[in-house]
Amino acid sequence: MTVTVNLGERSYDITIEKGALSHIGSYIPQGGKTLVVTDDGVPEKYVQAVSAKAEGGVTVTLPQGEASKNFENYKMLCEVMLRHDFTRSDKVIAVGGGVVGDLAGFAASTYMRGIDFYNVPTTLLSQVDSSVGGKTAIDLCGIKNIIGTFYQPKAVIINPDVLKTLDRRQYACGMAETLKMAATSSGELFEMIEGGIDERNIEEMIARAVGIKADVVSKDEKEAGLRKILNFGHTIGHGIESLGELYHGECVALGMLCMCGEKVYPRLEKVIKSLGIPTKIKADRDKIISAVRHDKKMQGETINAVFVDSIGSFEIRKTTTDELSERLSKILI
Ligand SMILES: NC(=O)c1ccc[n+]([C@@H]2O[C@H](COP(=O)([O-])OP(=O)(O)OC[C@H]3O[C@@H](n4cnc5c(N)ncnc54)[C@H](O)[C@@H]3O)[C@@H](O)[C@H]2O)c1
Repeated sequence: MTVTVNLGERSYDITIEKGALSHIGSYIPQGGKTLVVTDDGVPEKYVQAVSAKAEGGVTVTLPQGEASKNFENYKMLCEVMLRHDFTRSDKVIAVGGGVVGDLAGFAASTYMRGIDFYNVPTTLLSQVDSSVGGKTAIDLCGIKNIIGTFYQPKAVIINPDVLKTLDRRQYACGMAETLKMAATSSGELFEMIEGGIDERNIEEMIARAVGIKADVVSKDEKEAGLRKILNFGHTIGHGIESLGELYHGECVALGMLCMCGEKVYPRLEKVIKSLGIPTKIKADRDKIISAVRHDKKMQGETINAVFVDSIGSFEIRKTTTDELSERLSKILI
């Protein structure tokens, strides 16, 4: 299956195909130098499938985890390209999750003012979300994604088979981001997830989620309006994440429960539970709200947030920290 992100001359295809890694050369042009960026949590066979097709390629393997998305690694990747005489006709390929994709994409976007970037996402989150749309980033001084660019890849190649090695919690986090897209934009996708995802329909589920994100990005590349719907569940989610106990996707799932209407809540809760993500937590309400107050998107005491009162539709409206605090009651024990 192929989904196209329509952005004029920066348009690109996202291929979703079981077995795509075995003939990756048909999606990524041969010739020129290649920097393959990955991390040490990505099973080596996936990286080898890509680097074997990159003649004269250089592979950099970073330590796994968010901490790798830093300035030093960005500098190191640029230095590697410089040492190997990379020019504008060469390319960078990311093989990994969102950490590798964001960092490698940022390096590709700035080296010589931009060289070709290809993404081979290997976590569910990166397949349905971070590899699509061209946001690249690194963290600085403990602030996530504070430095980055909008830089579209030349192609994204998604092989759902690689998810077999992903651990359950990471998989659930990717499903939470998929639910986010379904809840705001597609009742059909939501029903499909409610019905259960397995080997037989995972490819279609990914393609549908990617289709939603591609459509949003094609209409609003730089988050002037519609792209904000991708933040459903993220305002309160970020507040919960700041407590440092749960993964990002788990916090987004809890955040969505706070921001949905009465009819949506039981459906969302049931699916989230089935993923093994907690739907109630014991946490300090004031600490969560205090973190929300520091959200980059706050405007005084108000913030634009996404609400879902009916599956497949959304509303973006201003809310206050008082309202968010009240809504937190839905998930606090
Ligand atoms: N650019 C965007 O639009 C965007 C959107 C959402 C999130 N993000 C970013 O994405 C990052 C999170 O991405 P993530 O959730 O993919 O985390 P991640 O990149 O840290 O990957 C999670 C873990 O899974 C391992 N892994 C990767 N593929 C595997 C596989 N197939 N089998 C087994 N293990 C595998 C990795 O080594 C890592 O330990 C964050 O930095 C976030 O800011 C970016």
